[in-house]
Amino acid sequence: MVKKRILTGDRPTGRLHLGHYVGSLANRVKLQRDYETYIMIADVQALTDNYQHPDKLGKNIREVVLDYLSVGIDPKVATIFIQSKIPEIAELTVFYMNLVTLARLERNPTVKDEMKQKGFGANVPLGFLAYPVSQAADITFLKADLVPVGIDQVPMIEQTREIVRKFNDLYGKVLVEPEALVGEIERLPGIDGKAKMSKSLGNVINLSDSTEVVRKQVMSMYTDPNRVHGNEAGNINNPVFIYLRVFGKESGVKNYDLRIKNYEKKYKEGQVQDVEVKEFLVEVLEGFLAPIRKKRDKFEKDQGLVEQILKEGAQKARAEAQKTLDEVKRAMKLDYFNYG
Ligand code: TRP
Repeated sequence: MVKKRILTGDRPTGRLHLGHYVGSLANRVKLQRDYETYIMIADVQALTDNYQHPDKLGKNIREVVLDYLSVGIDPKVATIFIQSKIPEIAELTVFYMNLVTLARLERNPTVKDEMKQKGFGANVPLGFLAYPVSQAADITFLKADLVPVGIDQVPMIEQTREIVRKFNDLYGKVLVEPEALVGEIERLPGIDGKAKMSKSLGNVINLSDSTEVVRKQVMSMYTDPNRVHGNEAGNINNPVFIYLRVFGKESGVKNYDLRIKNYEKKYKEGQVQDVEVKEFLVEVLEGFLAPIRKKRDKFEKDQGLVEQILKEGAQKARAEAQKTLDEVKRAMKLDYFNYG
């Protein structure tokens, strides 16, 4: 049976964090054998808000690939490649630009939020505003069926679906309408209690952070803002408890189920200090992250591994891109003269 396809990816602007794991990486690891899986390092997309310092991207590509390998993405089954090595994506983007209006892009809620956050005002670069179109090209050059992403990316997949429908209606059924797949826990809050863990907000715990850094971050974590003393009743929907519940089972920490129940009860009754619960979280995160760190170390020492993975990945992805582009051009009747 032909497997369905996954395409997803990340911008190489820094190391990946716990929020990435929960939102998307866990799903990729789980599904990598059931689907033909492609994972793209979105360097061209990262340029849309980093064009002033492109040097940042090259450095981080390696880190992101090591993050993938360390959480269990298996390069024998998943194809990992760099976006800029597939020029057909840029070509498709140009064709799709005709199928999207400016007003529609400006209504995209993720684009809207990011524009506000970056303070572009009226001076938004065209490349930034148009990145959902380029993302549609990322997804469709592979005819991906499923896109495991964080919840913020759902509007991008919706935009892709609209482009696919429009293309197929106009030119004939060539492209595949993808679906988004969001992690079971849709959004991991930041260590500062903000709704979202995000590199640009600086409220993250990275998958590759050392024991010391994790401890420092956990100890600085936001808990229940209405509880001043350990003897006051507290709300267990605060980030420390949320992280405990998300990572507890996978951490392998002994008696996790019993201990979390006990801490929840005590916290609600005002019988435990924040610091004691935080110590438990340090233990849980250590249990979760230690094997990831160990794997990362091993892969990091493997000279040439990342380069080899990316090279083979680009070759495989590019062959698919060329096939799709041929079909697209034929459908658009752009296949006149066959001299390349
Ligand atoms: N926009 C995604 C992010 O910021 C990265 C990305 C680029 C992507 N192209 C993609 C994700 C295609 C899924 C599919 O995280």
